[in-house]
Amino acid sequence: MPTPDSLAQIASEVSACTRCALHKTRTKAVPGEGPQQAEIMLIGEGPGFNEDQQGRPFVGQAGQFLEQLLALAGLKRSDVWIGNVVKCRPPNNRDPLPEELQACHAYLERQIAVLNPKIIVTLGRFSMGKFFPTARISAIHGQMRRVGERFVIAMFHPAAALHNPTYLPLIKQDFARLPELLETARRELAQATPHPSMLAEPQPRYETSKDDSPKQMRLF
Ligand code: URA
Ligand code: SF4
Repeated sequence: MPTPDSLAQIASEVSACTRCALHKTRTKAVPGEGPQQAEIMLIGEGPGFNEDQQGRPFVGQAGQFLEQLLALAGLKRSDVWIGNVVKCRPPNNRDPLPEELQACHAYLERQIAVLNPKIIVTLGRFSMGKFFPTARISAIHGQMRRVGERFVIAMFHPAAALHNPTYLPLIKQDFARLPELLETARRELAQATPHPSMLAEPQPRYETSKDDSPKQMRLF
């Protein structure tokens, strides 16, 4: 039987990966980190200078700010899983290229599948683009949308928000609403997951249910 995929397995593959040219200039790959039970997954863009040195996500200035933002939601760094769309630093922090995003995509997909978070928070437009390719971040930031088995909330990138007085109050507001949105996500996902007994043969029903409104169908 094949061994089930795991975060540790993915991390070890990422650390040795040569699938795109970024492997040539990296110091350390940054697979991402956080507890297996995390309900919230934060996905940034790519490692910067400090992340590349340490092999850990969001440890520089943007990372310090991210911890302050998490505190607004009553969360600690260790409560959430944190990673990036590309696992190796683009030289001089340039934008990741389409072929690099493409090459790295499968790792993120596997991390999402293994973690199965209730909420994914995308930080910045490259991460948002994985889920909402045509959306504008200023139009949809902070809104929680159902995507398959989970919810996705697009937010501004902390590094961009730190330096932009327009985004700063917006990203703070968006983080402060996370506890409320997590409650909603938990409730809706619990409802949408059929209890094992519901998968058994249907039993004849003799009583009319008090709540006979049809459960909302979800297409994705
Ligand atoms: N910015 C990111 O997008 N990711 C990091 O890991 C650090 C800074
Ligand atoms: Fe591999 Fe991703 Fe690093 Fe490219 S960025 S070398 S695909 S881990």
